[in-house]
Order: sequence, then C-alpha cells, then structure tokens
Amino acid sequence: MSTTTAGLTGEQIVELCRRHTLYEWSVQANVDPIPVARAKGVYFWTPEGKRFIDFNSQLMCVNIGYGDERVIRAINEQASTLTYSGPYMATEVRGLLSAKLAEITPGDIDVFFFTNGGAEANENAMRIARMVTGRHKIGARYRGYHGGTAGALTLTGDPRRWGADPGIPGVFRIPDYYHGIQKGWDTADDVLARTEEVLELEGPKTIAGIIVEPIVGTNGILIPPDGYMQGLRALCDKHGILLIADEVMTGFCRTGEWFAVDNWGVVPDLMSIAKGLTSAYVQLGAVGMRRQIADHFQNNFFYGGLTYNSHPLACAAALATISVYEEDDLLENTRRMGKIMRGLMEDLERRHPSVGATRNIGLFGIVELVRNRETREPMAPFNGTSPEMQALGKFFRQEGLYTIVRWNTFFTNPPLCINEAQLREAFAIIDKGLEITDQGVTD
Ligand SMILES: Cc1ncc(COP(=O)(O)O)c(C=O)c1O
Repeated sequence: MSTTTAGLTGEQIVELCRRHTLYEWSVQANVDPIPVARAKGVYFWTPEGKRFIDFNSQLMCVNIGYGDERVIRAINEQASTLTYSGPYMATEVRGLLSAKLAEITPGDIDVFFFTNGGAEANENAMRIARMVTGRHKIGARYRGYHGGTAGALTLTGDPRRWGADPGIPGVFRIPDYYHGIQKGWDTADDVLARTEEVLELEGPKTIAGIIVEPIVGTNGILIPPDGYMQGLRALCDKHGILLIADEVMTGFCRTGEWFAVDNWGVVPDLMSIAKGLTSAYVQLGAVGMRRQIADHFQNNFFYGGLTYNSHPLACAAALATISVYEEDDLLENTRRMGKIMRGLMEDLERRHPSVGATRNIGLFGIVELVRNRETREPMAPFNGTSPEMQALGKFFRQEGLYTIVRWNTFFTNPPLCINEAQLREAFAIIDKGLEITDQGVTD
C-alpha cells in the first residue's frame, strides 16, 4: 500500500527529486536519498513500508518526535483562523510565544526577533552586535557551523565555508579547543589564553561579538572543557564584546538543559535558536537578546526585516512544541536516556576496537572511529571518507537505522521522546555495524 498523496513509489519519488531538485552540500551524482512517506514518534517509513528508527532527529531538529497530535492540532487551528499576517502586525501567538521564550531562555534574555531558521538568526545576531557596539569584527571558530547564508557561512569554519570564500569582511577565527581524535583537547586555561592573545592582536575595541556553538554540533559534539564558557564570558565582558551563543542545534532540551549554556550557568548577550523551537513542524528561528541590548533599539533604528518574521503558523507550532517539552517532561527523559546512552556507548568502547571515542551530553552524542587505538588514526580522514565508513553507512541504512555518518564519525541524536527499548534497538544495530569497522583496525 502506498502512503504518498499521488501514489508514487519510493523509486519514482527519488527519481523526480534527483532530476528536479538540488541536494545540499553534495555532488549530485552521489546523492542517494531515502524516500520518506510518513513518520510517527521516533520512526519514519518509506512508501513501501520500510521502517527507520531516526537516530539523528533528521537534522537534530525533530526533538519532540514526529506526528505529535498536540502540535498538529495547534497548526490546524492557527491555519483555520489566521495563516498569515505581516511583520508590522501584532498577533496573539507572537506575543505569547515571545513571552514564553523570555521565561525559558537564560538570565535576562527577554526580546526576540523571529526568522525563518538558524542562518537568518545568526545573520541578525551578527548585525545586532555590530549596531549595538558600533564595532565591526566578529570572532568565530574553525570547528563550527552557523548556516548557509553569506554571513553565516563566513562565520562557519568547517569545509562548507570553502565554496563561499572569501565571504563577508570582518570575520576572524578564535582558537578551537579540540583538534581531532589524534591531537585531542586543550585545557580551558590554555584555549582561553590563546583566545585572549587573538583578541589583543585583532584589537579588542574593533570586535563587536564572538559567536560559538556552546557545544559544537556537526563538527563533532565537542563539549568544551569545564570553565571554557565561563572564561569566554569573562573575556567578552572585559573587552566589551558581545557573546553570541548559537543554540540552533543545542537548544530545547537536547543536552539535558533547556539550552546548552545552562550547563555552565552562562548568559550570552545574544542567542540564536531554531530547529527544536518548533521541532521542525514548521520552520522558525529567532535571535533572543538581553534587555539592555534590545533597549538600544528604543531610540535607534533596527535594520532588519523578513516577510515571514513572526509567521503565525510557525509561532503556533512553537508554542505547542514548548508545551510538549513541558507536559511530557522531555528534559527529564533526555537526562535519563542520556545516562543510558552513556552506558551503551561505554559498552561499545569495551567491545569494539574501532571505537576511538564516544561522547554524549543528554541525547547529543557521537562515536569516533579509529584504525588503531594506539596511533588514534581516524577511520576516515578530515573531510573525507573510507570504504569502512561507507560500508557502515550502508549497513545502518539496510538495517533501518537513520543517522549521519560523517568523516570518521556517526551521530547518536534521537528524538527526545525516545524510550529505553528504542535506544537499545538502535544500539543493537550499531553494535552489529561496528563489526564492519573493526575489520578495518590495523595492529
Ligand atoms: C549550530 C547551527 N547554527 C545554524 C544552523 C543553520 O540553521 P538553518 O539551517 O535553519 O538555517 C545550523 C544548522 O544545522 C546549526 O547546526
């Protein structure tokens, strides 16, 4: 039985999509999309009924899981009363959502500018930092991703930036605290000292802001050394630089706190959110700002605008999504399941010589694979792949486990509504799959 509207087969859907659409960050001849017809909870299905457990929440965004009736109802109700009103209007959902966000976001973050997604949130965060400080430079790390628009791609340090170089003026790099599985980690003191040196060399009074993912996402689930985020906050305060937290991926309970910065009690000046804000039921992003930053615009012009700013359908989806986090206590479930994930990962480390490192905080996790535990040679090079990693990806797909396999890593980021049996189901597939990469281990 087909579950698609026009009754197309999976093969036909893939053929049409590949013929008439471009797939992102890919050589088109190499893309091999999974046809998706429907989804519920932590699972999605192809038109032919093959089931996948979603171990990456698509792009780390379907945090509450698929098909939640409460969110669907809110979207339907909003659609039947008011689908759209322009950014200069005031709507109940816009008011209620921003007030709710002010309640759950850290410290005195109180005012929000809504966007279509994460990249636009970062574009506006960067522009706000420049307008408020009257300075122009923005610091960002190499191991970071901030979105696919001009400014956000310049902030991005990973290879996705290369095609957009030279990018926009005024962006410089601050040091990373992780250097890949062979070189490892810096201490907080060391990376902060090197960061301060870079600030000095750039000229602190020319720097408007520093943007970081508080826990780096696609570049490796990099949990900073303790003290780093507090130290970065202090450095910014010392030099009058605004701290911008890109919480697009880490926000909304993913790390076992409402926002990743809450793990260290740090309040950023500006905070970008998207993804989990609506769990991707409808697209929405926002940049949140502390009251004193918003106050700047009481008497100064705010240069920023989008036709779909505060779109009512998206605001309704976000409000309902936040209620689901609260009603189902997904924060608590994330913490509990995160602990179980930790145990399952440690088990993988014990049993599989190709497992070089595992990390997770809440349900934000990754496994790094190596050819040799002594030399820590990665199973695939930086920005590359290998036959073993390709075979592992193929195995996951064949066994109905969806996740992103990237370079020498794969991600473990299921929807936050996952239960223990489902976690174990996914780890059983992973356990089998790692027999493939174990074959690639050299003495
Ligand atoms: C940390 C981070 N920032 C920004 C973005 C860009 O968000 P969007 O794709 O919604 O523009 C992403 C997307 O993956 C992200 O992970």
